[in-house]
Amino acid sequence: MIYLDNAAGSYPKPRQVSATLARALEEYGANPGRGGYALVRKTEAMCEEVRHQLARLIGADDAQRIVFTAGATASLNMAVWGLLQGGGHAICSSMEHNALFRPLAVLADAGRISLSVVDADAWGYVQAADIAAALRPSTRLIALSHASNVCGSVQPIAEVGQIARQADVPFLVDAAQSAGLLPLDVQDMGISLLALAGHKALYGPAGIGALYVAEGLELTPLISGGGAASELRHQPEYYPQRLEAGSINTSGIAAWGEALHVVEKIGVEQLYRHASMLVARLAAQLRCLPGVHLHLRADEQRPRVPVLSATIDGITANQAAEALDRRGICVRAGYQCAPLAHRTLGSYEEGSLRFSPGWYNTAVDIDFTAQAVAELIAELRA
Ligand SMILES: Cc1ncc(COP(=O)(O)O)c(C=O)c1O
Repeated sequence: MIYLDNAAGSYPKPRQVSATLARALEEYGANPGRGGYALVRKTEAMCEEVRHQLARLIGADDAQRIVFTAGATASLNMAVWGLLQGGGHAICSSMEHNALFRPLAVLADAGRISLSVVDADAWGYVQAADIAAALRPSTRLIALSHASNVCGSVQPIAEVGQIARQADVPFLVDAAQSAGLLPLDVQDMGISLLALAGHKALYGPAGIGALYVAEGLELTPLISGGGAASELRHQPEYYPQRLEAGSINTSGIAAWGEALHVVEKIGVEQLYRHASMLVARLAAQLRCLPGVHLHLRADEQRPRVPVLSATIDGITANQAAEALDRRGICVRAGYQCAPLAHRTLGSYEEGSLRFSPGWYNTAVDIDFTAQAVAELIAELRA
């Protein structure tokens, strides 16, 4: 099998990550914050260590401002709902994944906020100046994905961060597709809220993620419940417990911690270089095939993550993905949960065929895949 769907979830996981996940139920079987006995303390210490690993990854000063969640979708919903309870105006771009766009759309459609969707260009890039132009006195949030899960375009986060800082507006960044591939620094980039997914380029298991909340920013908890300070009527004010109601995914956290060690050891730059080299190799071969259109300009110099989307004249993305599946190649067809982005990129009718290599793919995988695409075109057009 050739797995080229790492943007949906990386596979395989590093061996030590699978092993840690299997062992975690035995080693970290207690529930953090529920008791003071040794197994609770051991489990708490493990969770704190992973919080610190995440803080190092994103340049956060205070690991306690990192909240464990069930994934980037949960983090983004916590940020959007937590910040916009009082209404106001929000800004996002036309490249957002549904995980960010839908909570904003729900609030906008209920008349609780007004929403400006800033258009990206036809290759998926947003201009920082267009975000600045959308600001209003009532703006309460700027929300952007760092990198597109459809075409890989990377947005000018540091520039927008500066604009947000000057305007004193919280800046939420969806780093689901960039964490593990691009450097992140919440201080330098002016990010006040950062959503992370554990199961993509950070090589952790599904069902774990995190939300960073800058010091001084107040979010209304989306969910309330058990955990710290049981004597209080409401969630405590302090972090991370303020946003960590209920039992957290300790096995997932343990395995994510192991995955973060792997990412630290290989290095984000090396992980990026490897997958980008594979995408460039695939793009070069697919470009030569008749009727194949890439969501990537041949002379693109702007920053991007290693995701490649294609459409093929006369063959639907689903037909192509099925034909590749018959050859043992796993790719994602359709809208990739980002219909807005497809509208922007001109592929709204049926989405695209998306290839997203990871650390465990090789040039041989890529050449085999390009050859398979050539064959399926000949076969389906015959
Ligand atoms: C850009 C982007 N944001 C958010 C998500 C949602 O992440 P999760 O699966 O961790 O909820 C994804 C997943 O595909 C994504 O690509």
